[in-house]
Amino acid sequence: MDYRQEIERRRTFAIISHPDAGKTTLTEKLLLYGGAIQLAGSVKGKATARHAVSDWMELDTPGHQDFSEDTYRTLMAADSAVMVIDAAKGIEPQTRKLFKICAMRHIPIFTFINKLDREARDPFELMEELEKEFGIGTYPVNWPIGCGHDFKGVFDRDRREILAFQEFHRGQNKISAIECELTDTERLDELIGHLMWEKLVEDIELLDGASYEFDLDAVRAGELSPVFFGSALTNFGVEPFLENFLSMTTSPLPRETAEGAVDPMGEDFSAFVFKIQANMNKAHRDRIAFMRICSGKFERDREYLHVQGGKVLKLAQPQQMMAQERAIINEAFAGDIIGVFDPGIFSIGDTVCAPKHKVQFEGIPTFAPEHFSVISQVDTMKRKQFTKGVTQIAQEGAIQMFHAPNSGMEEVIVGAVGVLQFEVLEYRLKNEYNVDIRRRDLSYSFIRWIEKTPKKPDELNLASDTRWVQDFHGKDLLLFNNEWSIRWAEQKNEGLELSEFSRNW
Ligand code: G4P
Repeated sequence: MDYRQEIERRRTFAIISHPDAGKTTLTEKLLLYGGAIQLAGSVKGKATARHAVSDWMELDTPGHQDFSEDTYRTLMAADSAVMVIDAAKGIEPQTRKLFKICAMRHIPIFTFINKLDREARDPFELMEELEKEFGIGTYPVNWPIGCGHDFKGVFDRDRREILAFQEFHRGQNKISAIECELTDTERLDELIGHLMWEKLVEDIELLDGASYEFDLDAVRAGELSPVFFGSALTNFGVEPFLENFLSMTTSPLPRETAEGAVDPMGEDFSAFVFKIQANMNKAHRDRIAFMRICSGKFERDREYLHVQGGKVLKLAQPQQMMAQERAIINEAFAGDIIGVFDPGIFSIGDTVCAPKHKVQFEGIPTFAPEHFSVISQVDTMKRKQFTKGVTQIAQEGAIQMFHAPNSGMEEVIVGAVGVLQFEVLEYRLKNEYNVDIRRRDLSYSFIRWIEKTPKKPDELNLASDTRWVQDFHGKDLLLFNNEWSIRWAEQKNEGLELSEFSRNW
């Protein structure tokens, strides 16, 4: 197989959901059906987050709903997203946040409505909620017949037949559903009962008349979400979902760089770093940088250019995750996610490419953190370690680092999406860098990047509690206590443009 064929058959997607909707379960079941699925690091949301923390932090926080920016970043590496929704709950807060990122990138979104083997909300109501809240169209590829104890299966709208769910499917590894045409009334009576059958005919009539037409271009533009109903736990609906998903998604798409779009089929290797994971091994302060390959073929023995560092180097210990196993690889292709050993040189968003063909990818947006603290080292002699530690941890994207302009690094403001990240920071500085810190939480809850300003930031007309800071790219930001002061800043300073995320371009 030549490298073009290799690229052609790849699909790179992210599975996202509010915690507990069933992302991990669905991922496991997809692995069962689609033998060749590779996991990029910790796709397992809740389960792995808990695991990763307890591994090196001896701090177990079961059910902790802390949310890190990693989830957002995974979406930047994917070409499409699968959004898992709990049928009893519908859209939940984290689903909303994640959807925003998908919408910003215009990537296709597939919806898997899960847990139909339990009591569920009315499917029409769920469709309406998706359309209203997210402003996209929905196209139910199949339709549920009952739920909970009365869950009988789904109706496949394209094939016009029923896939029946049987109680004995529970717990089996792989099931083949029973297929039956909608016109086979005798068999239908037997499989789902007369009442359910009547209700189904009514539902389908309504759906066919009132729902969006299927339009593949709209799906690929992220404007129409194909919806599937199922139960990941019992494997029901997973196989048809995978089949449809594969036929509707595309092979790796071109990616934007400062030099124009990069064609995935291009011969020259290029990739960008979207996630950095600190190594669990305390003795070696090394990390794994995960990168998405955007074009060409990666070869283990070749040297590549790390654009931001300005150095040509071999990527050491290149690896991929296959199910739960990590394996060293010799080659990889556009669309693949690989992890490489990082001696502390990479930052989120960095480009690695063929030395002869230099490109630089669009950075990964940084999202506005919601919690802020001022930190400083207890022992002033340890300033160097402190600066190095905070900077490295910020490079990994575990926290964001800000400072007051012209103030040096004595006091650093750190921001995080979830408060648990501050504890992680404190612990890691102590254990990996041998630095104790003082931490004082700040009352700010909002931060905005200054996109455009009519004056120097310190000359703006701002509420008295608004504060000017810079990030470690040197960009100007404003810290606010409440939305009221944001509005004040915008209203009192004509021409001031603020943004909730930084494109890091
Ligand atoms: P997450 O990654 O999105 O956080 O969700 P995860 O897959 O861990 O699933 C959360 C819980 O929901 C798990 O139960 C899981 O077994 C259950 N679940 C997932 N899919 C289905 C489904 O289709 N039907 C039903 N009834 N349950 C489902 P748990 O009790 O929290 O964990 P466990 O002890 O079962 O692992």
